[in-house]
Amino acid sequence: MKEDLLKYLVCPDCRTPLALSSVLKTEGEEIMEGSLGCPRCSVSFPVRGGVPRILAGNEYRLKEETKNRFAFSWKKFSDIYEDPKDFLDWIHPKTRDFFKDRVVLDAGCGSGQHAVFASEFGAREVVAFDLSPAVDVAFRHSRTKDNVHVVQADMYRLPFKSDYDFLYCIGVLQHLPDTKEGFRRLRSLLKPGGWMSVWVYGYEGAWFIRRIVDPARKFVMSRLPLPAILSLSFLLTAILYFLAKVVYGPLSRFRPAKHLSRRLPLGDYLSYMSAFNFTYLFNCVFDQLIAPITQYFKEEEVRGWFENAGLKDIGLTRRNNISWRATGRNPG
Ligand SMILES: C[S@@+](CC[C@H](N)C(=O)[O-])C[C@H]1O[C@@H](n2cnc3c(N)ncnc32)[C@H](O)[C@@H]1O
Repeated sequence: MKEDLLKYLVCPDCRTPLALSSVLKTEGEEIMEGSLGCPRCSVSFPVRGGVPRILAGNEYRLKEETKNRFAFSWKKFSDIYEDPKDFLDWIHPKTRDFFKDRVVLDAGCGSGQHAVFASEFGAREVVAFDLSPAVDVAFRHSRTKDNVHVVQADMYRLPFKSDYDFLYCIGVLQHLPDTKEGFRRLRSLLKPGGWMSVWVYGYEGAWFIRRIVDPARKFVMSRLPLPAILSLSFLLTAILYFLAKVVYGPLSRFRPAKHLSRRLPLGDYLSYMSAFNFTYLFNCVFDQLIAPITQYFKEEEVRGWFENAGLKDIGLTRRNNISWRATGRNPG
């Protein structure tokens, strides 16, 4: 943790700025071991492995499973990203240039690679947080970036000031028990004029996932140990990868047959994924199968979160026919 991060941190309960209470080990600019405290409530939060862990309180059903399963996933798939193509597609219509000089929050950062991209696109500072020990991977990925900070924190108990020009939350809200509440809490961190972008699983167009994949996740995968799910995901990925490369990809690129690829199950998605490598698809399949909580949202629900939160200039687009990406601005 760089000392600079303190300017963004508050006590998740009383919102008093947190202070450093002890520094036990440093490496260059990074405080590797120590603690932070709230001068008002006298609670203390450890800094371990270079990351502040601001976690206590707010237990919910399946929270521990969510934490452990995503930690396993990110440790297994820590180095899958090579370029920001998918990141930019998730936050479309925002572009690289949009990051210039903005203070950015990556909510539910997973491996932290998006925070690194944000920094490379010219963000002034990036704060990335996640519930799970994936933050250790995020810390490792972002260590060389002076303006990226990583925190272990819970969406329902955010230890941040309302300081953000741009906040994005990719693939996280669908794994919360109360999505509206998670959205509301995130939205409260926007500066006047600040933008928020989210990407979530869609209800529309995803019948194959909802009817076939999701029941398997709920009734079979939730009972299996993670290494067994990993093996099953490998087999499933091998089939999907073959179909993507040999059937969907070529069909979608061959103009007269393009409409045919779109009519096949997961047509747009597998055509899009035909451009990615095996490991990337493997990670997506595994994540889909391990999450203890997964929800699918209709267009009007997603729009409703933005409208009810008073956001303006709302833009909502369908992605690969099975998910929604949306953005909106805090009018202040
Ligand atoms: C599918 S991953 C997406 C990670 C990253 N945004 C990306 O696109 O690569 C979902 C992430 O949400 C995190 N998560 C789930 N519940 C959370 C919560 N209550 N607070 C913060 N993060 C949470 C998980 O730990 C996991 O890393």
